[in-house]
Amino acid sequence: MIIQNGKTIHLQTENTSYVMYRNAEEDLLNFHYGRKIADVDYTQDPELLREAFPVLVSTAKHPHLSSLPQEYPVYGRSEQRHPALQLVNALGNSILCLKYKEARVLEGQSFQMTGMPTLFGKADTLEVVLADDAVGIEVLLYYVVFEKYDVIARSAVIVNRGDASIELQSAYSANVDLPQGKYELIHFCGDWGRERGLERTVLSKGALVEICDNTGRGSRWNNPFVMVTTPGGDEQTGEVYGFNLIYSGNHSTVAQMDWAGRLRIQQGISDQSFSWVLEPGEEFLTPQSVICYSDSGFGQLSQKYHGLYQNHLMRSEWAKKQRPILLNSWEGCYFDFDQQKLLAMAEKAKAVGIELFVLDDGWFGKRDDAQSSLGDWVVNRKKLPEGLSGLAEKLNAMGLEFGLWFEPEMVSPDSQLCRAHPDWVVRVPQIEPIEYRYQWVLDLSKAEVCDYLVEAVSQVLQSANITYVKWDMNRIVCDAPFDGFHHCYVLGYYNIMSRLTERFPHILFEGCCSGGGRFDPGVLAYMPQIWASDNSDAIARLKIQYSTSMCYPLSAIGAHVSAVPNHQVGRVTSLKTRADVAYFGMFGYELDLAQLTDEELEQVKAQTAFAKGIQPLIREGIFHRLRSPFQGNECVWQVASEDQTHTFVMGCRVLSIIRNGRQLEDKVRLRGLDPEAVYEDVNTGKRYPGSLLMHRGIALRYAVQDFATCTLELKKV
Ligand code: GLA
Repeated sequence: MIIQNGKTIHLQTENTSYVMYRNAEEDLLNFHYGRKIADVDYTQDPELLREAFPVLVSTAKHPHLSSLPQEYPVYGRSEQRHPALQLVNALGNSILCLKYKEARVLEGQSFQMTGMPTLFGKADTLEVVLADDAVGIEVLLYYVVFEKYDVIARSAVIVNRGDASIELQSAYSANVDLPQGKYELIHFCGDWGRERGLERTVLSKGALVEICDNTGRGSRWNNPFVMVTTPGGDEQTGEVYGFNLIYSGNHSTVAQMDWAGRLRIQQGISDQSFSWVLEPGEEFLTPQSVICYSDSGFGQLSQKYHGLYQNHLMRSEWAKKQRPILLNSWEGCYFDFDQQKLLAMAEKAKAVGIELFVLDDGWFGKRDDAQSSLGDWVVNRKKLPEGLSGLAEKLNAMGLEFGLWFEPEMVSPDSQLCRAHPDWVVRVPQIEPIEYRYQWVLDLSKAEVCDYLVEAVSQVLQSANITYVKWDMNRIVCDAPFDGFHHCYVLGYYNIMSRLTERFPHILFEGCCSGGGRFDPGVLAYMPQIWASDNSDAIARLKIQYSTSMCYPLSAIGAHVSAVPNHQVGRVTSLKTRADVAYFGMFGYELDLAQLTDEELEQVKAQTAFAKGIQPLIREGIFHRLRSPFQGNECVWQVASEDQTHTFVMGCRVLSIIRNGRQLEDKVRLRGLDPEAVYEDVNTGKRYPGSLLMHRGIALRYAVQDFATCTLELKKV
């Protein structure tokens, strides 16, 4: 709900209030963001304003904006902190003075942005117009209010209303100024094989912290999700603010605490190598920053993001559909396969209940290793003499669906495409572009390259019965030929993804980027599932999946059972442990089933049957993190259905702890159940009162070994 009351505008969600107002000088300021407060025109009460912002009633001729909480600050006059917008105006300076002009409420609309993914669905939207008439700049601030999820999605549009060109140097999507206090910042930093490590920083006065990723593809080193919490905030306690940018390129989140402990958070496109010329009449759109508040810790915040993304971000028809249990060929055979070998793998897969066979890298051009052929999306007839259609027909005849790997944004120097179109490579003239993994990046800022890719991928998808695509992206984007290029690249990527997903609405797309290097809401808007990491070791996955779930729903997290010793870390874990961890994601296998014993194959058969049955709960249920692998020896996860009738718990004890010849029990208190109800363990038939499970807890009993997991499935009687 959006209420305009005198000089205040109050955005209300189920549990939160976001109140802004304009002062006598028409500066747009923030009064409150957090728990719900009464709807009053707070500007009528000078006492209240004095208490909140003493400087507002000072005797200075101009208000010192540097000590006021603003909605969209600009640097250069009385504001000296980090600006949300920086530009060089027609006079050659960067002074801007944005004043409130008007506000419009667009009730129950579906806010969309051309060329960039946004949250969809009907929601009230506030549009506020700020302007600097002298410079000829107008800034439109958008606040889309998703009441049920306590979310406000913010973005800004910068318009050149003058008669000369201006140059944007940075334009953040959102700015939130929080009152004096103590705050901690949590962000998700990682690399290949260790995506989204959880980092926590105490913010100190006078410090400016920037969490950014300038690899050109979004979230290689830093995810565009951050949380700000009151000191000691944890899963169930503390006030927490979440910020997540719907964007798949260079991003930045700035946290700046001033001398008094007032905190500014800004989120948007990174200003690294960014510049954008706006000719008269032109506008620049910033991506949406999804801002959420919880007064009960990270767990509740995550649940809100999960619900929002499932219902208002992931557009694919697969977002809410049962996903097939897949076998991916990569770790099973890498580049070394032919049709016969694949069909043998597929036969084994079918026998154990797998539904989708995914052929990974190596099926096209002359690709027998990573050194060639990216760009030549033509089947390799030496390996697959009957082509993709022949293979698909045989798989379909066995009762399996067929999925395929692509890496369309790339080109190998050794490829026909590169020889035909050397000018399509991202590069600075006269300088040899950096080569990684024997590949260059295609210039998606060029419309002809995007058109070509849409057609090239479409042709393959139309050539055979393909129901799944793994869209990979295995290197950074560098050698940008001009400032602002990275943004053009991202727009090109969205252009391709929107055209392909519209053309092939029934195909399940899974994002991938050297593992989980591009895990962001921009990708999720098109691909409801993203491969979380090339590190498929169950113990490493505890942390990766745990931290990924802080913002992203389990239905978005690709998780596979792979071989032991694990190919990435060399660890040996049981088949049970590997599956138990992978159940908490979109489940599949990635190994050569021929290497398993008959007994193990029977186990796999039971696992696929279980995974199919439990998936609706995993996909749609409410996720609770009961023990953190970042804090101790155990990691415990629980999903409970919204109606509290069904729950599934998984615990993993990394190193065994023995007491009297048995593993020491670990009692965990479950969440999200009905305390008045009775629950039955579906395996043992034992019954427990809900109140006991929730308030006293239930013991998890692990086998006597390292890396042991145990699971518990309970249903309301
Ligand atoms: C990346 C992906 C892997 C696999 C390989 C193929 O590393 O993350 O899953 O697809 O590429 O080359």
